[in-house]
Amino acid sequence: MCGIVGYNGSEQAAPILLEGLSRLEYRGYDSAGLAVRNASTPIEIVKAKGRLRVLAEKTNDGEALHGTCGIGHTRWATHGEPSENNAHPHASDDRTVVGVHNGIIENYQELKEKLLRHDYVFYSDTDTEVALKLIHYYMGKYAGGPVDSIARAMTRIRGSYALAVMFAEYPDEIFVARKDSPMVIGVTDGACYIASDVPALLKYTRSVYYIGNQQIARLGKGTVSFFDIDREPVSVEQTEVKWDAEAAEKGGFEHFMIKEIHEQPKAVRDTLHSLIKEDHIDLSGTGLTDEDLRKYERIHIVACGSAYHVGLAGQYIIEDLARMPVRVELASEFRYRNPLLTDRDLVIVISQSGETADSLAALRLAKEKGIETLGIINVIGSSIAREADHVLYTLAGPEIAVATTKAYSAQLAAVYVLAVQAALIRGCIDEEKYKELLNEMEQLPAKMERVLEDKERIQWFAAKYSNARDMFFIGRGIDYAISMEGSLKMKEISYVHSEAYAAGELKHGTISLVENGTLVVGVCTQNHLFEKTRSNMVEVKSRGAYLMGLTNYGNYSIEDTADFTVYIPRTDAHFTTSLAVIPLQLLGYYLSVARGLNVDKPRNLAKSVTVE
Ligand code: G6P
Repeated sequence: MCGIVGYNGSEQAAPILLEGLSRLEYRGYDSAGLAVRNASTPIEIVKAKGRLRVLAEKTNDGEALHGTCGIGHTRWATHGEPSENNAHPHASDDRTVVGVHNGIIENYQELKEKLLRHDYVFYSDTDTEVALKLIHYYMGKYAGGPVDSIARAMTRIRGSYALAVMFAEYPDEIFVARKDSPMVIGVTDGACYIASDVPALLKYTRSVYYIGNQQIARLGKGTVSFFDIDREPVSVEQTEVKWDAEAAEKGGFEHFMIKEIHEQPKAVRDTLHSLIKEDHIDLSGTGLTDEDLRKYERIHIVACGSAYHVGLAGQYIIEDLARMPVRVELASEFRYRNPLLTDRDLVIVISQSGETADSLAALRLAKEKGIETLGIINVIGSSIAREADHVLYTLAGPEIAVATTKAYSAQLAAVYVLAVQAALIRGCIDEEKYKELLNEMEQLPAKMERVLEDKERIQWFAAKYSNARDMFFIGRGIDYAISMEGSLKMKEISYVHSEAYAAGELKHGTISLVENGTLVVGVCTQNHLFEKTRSNMVEVKSRGAYLMGLTNYGNYSIEDTADFTVYIPRTDAHFTTSLAVIPLQLLGYYLSVARGLNVDKPRNLAKSVTVE
């Protein structure tokens, strides 16, 4: 999704803005732009379609733009095609109001008509131009200054936005407003920085302000003040970001994705260690009590993308261990379904970014209905983390590659801990079984490292199959949930058409798509289902499929069926996802590399989907 940066200090702004935008590239974009000025100069705007390097070339790496105050933007097209004209920054025709925006303004057509009646004309197809011209209109009509006109515009705008705006008459200031779209502000001695996400700020400061929903910030050179929508001053707490800058660098790896795949043992270890203390699960940091876990009668897990796949695995695990009914649903469906919820339900929203628009809306729906909510979130201070009743932070650190890997693994670890604790509290397992499960969990990071050691074989296999057109992933139970994630990774980064199927369902249609050479990955980590899935693999093989098997060490009979097999270490059946997902991530990664694709920034995708 769109990325916003801003700088107001004593250095030349443009190179800093370009550097900041490069840190947000992972969010996905199709055009970019800058607006820069000095106290005595008009606001200068430069925009370019395509990659950031086009904008860098156009501005001689920012050197050609002079000014110590500026804003920058990477645009992921929603309203209007990707083009230089639609790229941000946008401006009023007299260039007295210039700004950038992330989000979607739902009533932009209605606002545009109002402005047209007041003789405004429009040069782009964007909702952003409408928002800025609305602010311009209020500047002229009420002459109350930037905070007043932004606040007036905010009361008229429906939808989501993070806005950064410069005003010709206020040369040394940038104004920021936010509703349901992320925005972080960093303040150092003599300078202010703004960004859609923390990695763009880490080089300069770790002390940040998360501007609240429907708030406005006024940024000077090293000063910031906050206002609510009624223009009343409000105080916002400063937060210390614990991530270090190195965590947001590639550190010798070719891509962020492969670096993050290798960081999974650490992400899982750190997450488990934050929740297991002195051989016991301690959920006190989340605010969830044993009494809560006893009281809930039903769990709803709501999420998008890979986080939804964590929920699918979680459903099997929680239901089996804690004997509680779990329903897993895509946030985009849940939010419009008028779900049946009772005050004994718990709604768990899983999200890496904590900003996914549908997940946030689902959380708000649950809260509106008075249902308790738990966020399993990676980004500290994000919207879902702030609004959920309880928060369980995964400790995966910053994740940059668009396709998630380590955040997914950390989310799984969090779900295991919840499942095991609920199982004990609800009397489904005894203390001995509890200890055994904790012990298995503790061993997962080392076992994940062992799976990673096998990566060359998967690299070889991926290179061999780099021309694959269609792929199927099949499994039963938890293996079906793993298959869904493996298949998504393949689609996301390798652009190979792939589908995941519950192995037993194949015969009801999908098997007709299998022909000579079709690649089918059979996931068989659940020993009680091994023979069942294997017989489905035999069925596709007899129709010409080329078979990759994924199973536990010891299940060597799979080699009678599979053409290529990857083994994972044995663990408790509930936790196999953590190990089995790694070869599938590696397969997607190496296939994408072999096809020469942009692994970290796949086409049309965004890391954090902050619009519906
Ligand atoms: C995007 C990302 C996925 C992610 C999904 C949900 O589609 O590319 O990797 O799983 O959003 O994101 P969230 O931040 O809510 O986990």
